[in-house]
Amino acid sequence: MNIVTTDFGRTAGGTPAHLYTLVNDNGMSVTITDFGGAIVSILAPDRNGKFTDVVLGYHTLADYEHADGYLGALVGRYANRIAGGSFELDGVLYDQLYINDGGNHLHGGRIAMSKDVWGTEDITVTETGSNLTLCFVSHDGEEGYPGEMTAVVGYRLDNDNALSIDYTAWTDKACPVNLTNHVYFNLAGNASGSVLGQELWLDAESYCRGDDGLIPTGELVPIEGTPFDFRTASKPIGRDFFADNTDLRLAGGYDHCFNFTNWKEFDTNGEPNGPCPLRAVAVDPVSGRGLEMYTNQPCVQFYSANFLKNPLFPLRGGVPQRPQSGFCLETQRMPDSPHHQGEENFTNCILRPGEQYHHKTVYKFIAK
Ligand code: GAL
Repeated sequence: MNIVTTDFGRTAGGTPAHLYTLVNDNGMSVTITDFGGAIVSILAPDRNGKFTDVVLGYHTLADYEHADGYLGALVGRYANRIAGGSFELDGVLYDQLYINDGGNHLHGGRIAMSKDVWGTEDITVTETGSNLTLCFVSHDGEEGYPGEMTAVVGYRLDNDNALSIDYTAWTDKACPVNLTNHVYFNLAGNASGSVLGQELWLDAESYCRGDDGLIPTGELVPIEGTPFDFRTASKPIGRDFFADNTDLRLAGGYDHCFNFTNWKEFDTNGEPNGPCPLRAVAVDPVSGRGLEMYTNQPCVQFYSANFLKNPLFPLRGGVPQRPQSGFCLETQRMPDSPHHQGEENFTNCILRPGEQYHHKTVYKFIAK
């Protein structure tokens, strides 16, 4: 177990950024920058013990600062979309959220948590894990949100090749909170091309239908018999990718909130030690490299990187951006939940003073 700290240069505003490489006793490593708390690289073994970087990333800090796509980043206060950049809470209208996606608010706004340097609260190496704790204070009114909200995110790599991400947050005024990590995986390696041949199992029973701006209509569609059914083991992501389906076409591929089976029982602000069941398994059948995902969140945005095509920012590994060259499993609450509070079908997302938000997601790397 070890953590190596290196400089990652300075932001345009002059703030120094760092890279932290968490290493376990198996030689697996995870590199995280305090800029946006982004996961920059994960070296994971295949069935022959060969390590490859399974994360899409940029070359430099400047790329992370100026490029889009939220590669590896922590996103919030509200991951995903809030329609029209406005919501009402306790009778007050908040209509100044930053608009950055058509007419809607996406991933917390312009700078938010993903384009700023996080504080480093703790770096601890024990016999069982390498731990990095980052923190971020979002000020009252920042990006249009009410109240000062503090987020603390702990990254931990252990000797089971599991990367745990623990999110805690609190606020001094009620506000919507939905934090996640936007890492793009390619289990064959970050420069290996399309992920459509990689297999996915997802323990989801429905997905949120979206409109042409990917805002949920309010309808939860049962996945049975649709291209969104990933409950069969060994289903390639590409098997139904080109099916004649309006929801797939509107999103340009998979970019939907999948609601986990019996998700309601997890629909709270989370318990620090509450249930964290297995919800997804992804495998590259060629190398055998895989990951298991455990989470206490009710949903995951499964995103097949359909917008990843900006020619100005090539990716590490010497490859251009290409749609479907990675996939994201962004554990979260439903998009646009602030507009559906109190609806039986929707997730609660309001964090109030005195409460704590707890989100835990584990990506455990396996070889088959
Ligand atoms: C995803 C979202 C996509 C796209 C992407 C960032 O979380 O679902 O629609 O906005 O982030 O490029």
